[in-house]
Amino acid sequence: MPREREIRSAPVNKQSFRPYPLPGKLESPPPTTQNPVFQTVNPSLEGLSEHQKERICGVPATCVVGLQWGDEAKGKIVDLLTGEHDIVVRYQGGANAGHTVVLGGEPFKLSLVPSGIFRPPVRCVIANGVVLHPGSLLEEIERLRCRGVQVEDNLLVSNRAHVIFPWHIEEDRLLEKAAGSEAIGTTLRGIGPCYRDKVGRSLAFRVGDLYQPNFRDRVRQAAQFKQRMLQCLSGEPIELDADAIYEQYRQYAEQLRRWVGDSTAYLLDAVEAQKRILFEGAQGALLDVDHGTFPYVTSSNSSGVGVSSGSGVPARYLTKIIGIIKAYSTRVGGGPFPTEQANEIGQYIRDRGNEYGTVTRRPRRCGWFDAVAVRYTARLSGVDVLAVMLLDVLSGLEELKVCTCYELDGQKTTNFPAHVDELWRAQPVYETLPGWKEDISHARRWEDLPANAQNYLRRISQLIGRPLEIISVGPDREQTIFIHSAIF
Ligand code: IMP
Repeated sequence: MPREREIRSAPVNKQSFRPYPLPGKLESPPPTTQNPVFQTVNPSLEGLSEHQKERICGVPATCVVGLQWGDEAKGKIVDLLTGEHDIVVRYQGGANAGHTVVLGGEPFKLSLVPSGIFRPPVRCVIANGVVLHPGSLLEEIERLRCRGVQVEDNLLVSNRAHVIFPWHIEEDRLLEKAAGSEAIGTTLRGIGPCYRDKVGRSLAFRVGDLYQPNFRDRVRQAAQFKQRMLQCLSGEPIELDADAIYEQYRQYAEQLRRWVGDSTAYLLDAVEAQKRILFEGAQGALLDVDHGTFPYVTSSNSSGVGVSSGSGVPARYLTKIIGIIKAYSTRVGGGPFPTEQANEIGQYIRDRGNEYGTVTRRPRRCGWFDAVAVRYTARLSGVDVLAVMLLDVLSGLEELKVCTCYELDGQKTTNFPAHVDELWRAQPVYETLPGWKEDISHARRWEDLPANAQNYLRRISQLIGRPLEIISVGPDREQTIFIHSAIF
């Protein structure tokens, strides 16, 4: 009996649930329909019932995760859903990601700042799992402010996020150069070397370290070591001016100070207060460092598994995971890509889909939809529903192919291989479906789509084993079809 009483009366430490008092303070009241945040109905969700909106947006924590090799047009979905959330969180990656949000016909490019920044009651968090170059972040903030976007205390940068230094960028460049034809094809933003130092610990700097009294000494020590390392890698003398680097980063730290805080505490308070949170994944699940096409991956957990470690929000709070896919496949950089079409089909897709990198402008490799890969990443990421993007790009093709399994060493398999060498050897087995000629960019309802487009979508959904909820037929918000009933 006493034991039972002890358990029932386990004290809830109210103190620890207090909102974080600094820049990330939660000012808005708990979510009710009276809350102005929830009256900001996004134009494209207009006309939907509260129940339908809730089903699409999820309550309280929704994750948007790319299921291919990145560039799935996640930005559009995040932008559509932002108005229905209190907080938008970037939780992994860095300025290797990039997306464009079109507002009033004006394109805005974002790299690190979450897309919630365009809707000021919405709080934007750059969480602990991100690696950031403070100069690039400040530039991005400045560019936004110059165009009238409010970046005040609607932004919180985690004091646990890791900091990219000039030596990381140089190391990225030298390692890529040394790898020759085996190069990963990184974005050269120093992402991998920064994450390497994070895991290696001794030479790593978190944002909070920029404000510590020993910061200058630590920069000197790191610069000395890195200089020797870079010289070995390059075979040439390299000089790192530790004092100049310290001075620059000290200034960055001062400029960033107002936005820096404990995002983990802030987000834990937020989930416990039932705030609606939108987690904005960067890159795609096939680039996940643990589960992707290693070593041709990025250095963070870009699949659904990264949300908790990258933000500090336990998985039990994640109520809805939206998997974003393109209606075909693309990849930037090196690595195996079984359904790649290095031919006129690939070029057709590249031209119609404007498949050139947002950050680097590199032409993307293009190919047919790979249901083996996406079924794997949808399961891995715990995806509830799918959003299919860029369907309009496929209009005009006589027929479409979908990879339904791989042939690997004489055996058919629907398992996604763990080793990169197996993936290089995997031969896609295709199913061919009839294409459609119609321009579908004006479709707004499922019924507006040609029967062949409907069949294609149905088949993809069936092969992945997840229902479709959103279909995008163009870059504008209005060019979106929400599936309200169970078609699949
Ligand atoms: P890193 O992230 O710069 O180290 O690059 C590692 C790999 O991930 C390279 O193949 C990049 O092209 C790819 N990558 C990184 N960020 C993105 C992205 O946002 N979209 C697509 N590919 C990306």
